[in-house]
Formats: sequence, structure tokens, C-alpha cells
Amino acid sequence: MRKTKYIHISDLHLIDRGHLYGINPISRFKKALESIKKHHNNSDFVVITGDLSDKGSVKSYEILKEAIDSFPIPIHLILGNHDSRSNFLKVFPEYENSNKFIQYLKEYDDRVFIFLDTLAKKNTGGKLCKKRFKWLKDRLKENSSKPLYIFMHHNPIESGMYLFDDGGWGLEKRDKFWELLEKYENIKHISFGHIHQEIMASENHITLNCTKATVHQIAYFTSLKEEYLTIAEDPAYAIIEMKKKSTRVSWHKFLKDEEIFQE
Ligand SMILES: [Fe+2]
Repeated sequence: MRKTKYIHISDLHLIDRGHLYGINPISRFKKALESIKKHHNNSDFVVITGDLSDKGSVKSYEILKEAIDSFPIPIHLILGNHDSRSNFLKVFPEYENSNKFIQYLKEYDDRVFIFLDTLAKKNTGGKLCKKRFKWLKDRLKENSSKPLYIFMHHNPIESGMYLFDDGGWGLEKRDKFWELLEKYENIKHISFGHIHQEIMASENHITLNCTKATVHQIAYFTSLKEEYLTIAEDPAYAIIEMKKKSTRVSWHKFLKDEEIFQE
């Protein structure tokens, strides 16, 4: 089995114009793409794990389309709580499928990658309704002999931050989700977004990572229960490399690309 490598970007929060917390989301995203092209052009694909748009406007998806249209590496998109499924499909009709959600499957080098849609309308928290859950169940059953990887926006594990855990912002019915996943020894890794931070974790036999947003980050350093602080830490993307028996996650803070010291 060949080595497979993907780049994990998350939470672009693209807007129609201007700045968000003093940051220009589209120029940040373009910087990330330039950096990936420069340093990781041997990647098999790029995944963006939701919150593609900040307000879900058609225009923001058009901006996204224009930015990724001629990118030399395949880019796969999923939705987050800030996205609008109907507006997204107006600009990316190729994502439309019979299950009515943006859920799909790709294969690279005999590895199976499942992309989930956890968007619950008008809700910050995430959901896999009966239909989406059954779709996942069926795909897991059909692909139980190959190494399998999952992408989703909402955190399916405790993040350590109150609002994303007991505050209802994470994936609802996490127990049911894990009850299903723990039956499949072939599931290797999950990459998710939503937290706007770097996280590495394991749950049962599966490893997981979250990556920082390309825009603002969320503070991990506060111990106050319901406090939510938006902070200006540098953005990053994650690099995930898989070999036969291993998965490695590293992060690159792409704004500092030009600051390379040489003897
Ligand atoms: Fe976000």
C-alpha cells in the first residue's frame, strides 16, 4: 500500500467583502493555498472541514469557487454550522447527490475517505440525523476491509472547552456515533474543524485531529466555564501522512512561510 498524504484546512469563514475581527478571510485562505502549492504539492488531496463561509451567502461560495478552481491538487469540501447547504449547492452543484446531504466517499490508494455533513439548520451544534447516520452505517459496512478515514466539521469528542462539550456546540448523540465506530477496527483517523485550534486525540482505537482556522482562533487558555475568547494566534493547516501501519499529523503556520533561517 502506497503512502497517502492530505492537507487539512478548516474554518475559512469567507465573507462577501471586508474584514472579520480585523482579518481578511479570502487573502488568508489564498495564502494557505499558496503555501500548500509551494511545500506540499505531492499531496493526494486537500480537505476543508467546514465553515467555508461565515454567513452562508452565495457570493462567499463564488469567492471560494474562484479561489480553488485552478488549484493543482483536488480539494474536497464539507459544511459547517456557518454554512448554508442550499446556497453552497447553487455554486457547487456537483456536490448534489441522492442522499440530499453533502455526504460522499472518495478512495485514494486503497484507502477510503468518508466526508460527513453534520450541519443542523439554525444550530451551532452538529447533528447526524437518521438519514445521515444510516448512510454512514451503510458505507462502513460496505468498506470494512480497507483502512478508513472520516472528515466532519463538529467535534465528535470532548474538546476540553465547555461550550463545545456540555454547552451543546459539538456533535449531538456522541455515544451513538462511537457505538457504531468502535465496531470497525479498520477506521484509522478522523479530522474535524469547528474548534479553531490544534487538537490531537484518540478515542477507542481511532486517532483524531482538529486544526486551527485560517482566520481567528479560539482561546484554549481560559479555564472559565462559559467564556469564549476570539484571539489572534497564527493560523495553520494540518498535514496528515499515512503509511501501512502509521498516521502522522503535523501543522504548518503558513503566515511565517517567508521567515526561513539558513546558516
Ligand atoms: Fe468556525
